[in-house]
Amino acid sequence: MSKAAVRALGYLELGVSSLANWEDFARDILGVQANRDGNALNLRYDADCWRLRLVQTGEDDIRCAGFEAADSAHLQAIVARLQAQGVAVSAASAEAAAARRVSELVCLNDPFGLPMEIYVGNRSAPGAFESPRGVAGFVTAGQGLGHIVLTAPEPDRMKRFALEGLGFLLSDNIFMGPPGHQLEVTFLHCNPRHHTLAFAAIPASKRLNHIMLQLQDLDDVGRGLDTAARAGVPISSSLGRHTNDRMTSFYMRSPSGFDIEYGFGGVEIDDATWQPEVYHAPSIWGHRGALNPA
Ligand SMILES: [Fe+2]
Repeated sequence: MSKAAVRALGYLELGVSSLANWEDFARDILGVQANRDGNALNLRYDADCWRLRLVQTGEDDIRCAGFEAADSAHLQAIVARLQAQGVAVSAASAEAAAARRVSELVCLNDPFGLPMEIYVGNRSAPGAFESPRGVAGFVTAGQGLGHIVLTAPEPDRMKRFALEGLGFLLSDNIFMGPPGHQLEVTFLHCNPRHHTLAFAAIPASKRLNHIMLQLQDLDDVGRGLDTAARAGVPISSSLGRHTNDRMTSFYMRSPSGFDIEYGFGGVEIDDATWQPEVYHAPSIWGHRGALNPA
């Protein structure tokens, strides 16, 4: 990275209708730890204290995305670029930073009003992650919690904000859908993970399309698919492999309606050699359902 940029997606806060439904889904299907914290449910799946925080608001959508900066100087450089774009950035209180378990925290909104945070701090917690379903582990080291795909009504405004403001780099683009109704999806990275943030002008009311969790073992994806199917969790897209990040994955419907992509084996980007490409299909095979109507 030649300029200061966020280096990972560290946490998400999600507003949900039912913490109880999410508690079961998180433990039994996703295989992550679910810990009650007052009127919230914290999901842990690596060394960090939590990666997803669910609060019972009834929105069933994303409430906030928290991005990690390497240090205070990087954070301030990113803030200066955002402010130069006209983005209002405010420093969070010490109490707010402590609640996120970080040492430094700023708050802002993306171009369409979604709260975002940038932080500095080590959020690791004592003890090792232990999956309640025996999952070997999730790929997060140096790559953040996974990736998110957002609805962005005006993708060009989102591109300027994410590329020139937050410091993301272009991974590639996919044109999806039938001729005449094509949707351009933009994929961006800020560490070796192929994409941490992707967005498109998806005709949907939710800002959050899906969250991807990457498993360390392909068999855990297969067992997750079996477990989800047995439990009656709707499978939004069957097992398949993506064209651009080469992830082998399936998509399942979370209790909040947005999807969780459960995957294995995404490519890692080396900026010294990476060349963005344009694809015209989301998948090499599979992913039958919402992504590839049969
Ligand atoms: Fe994805």
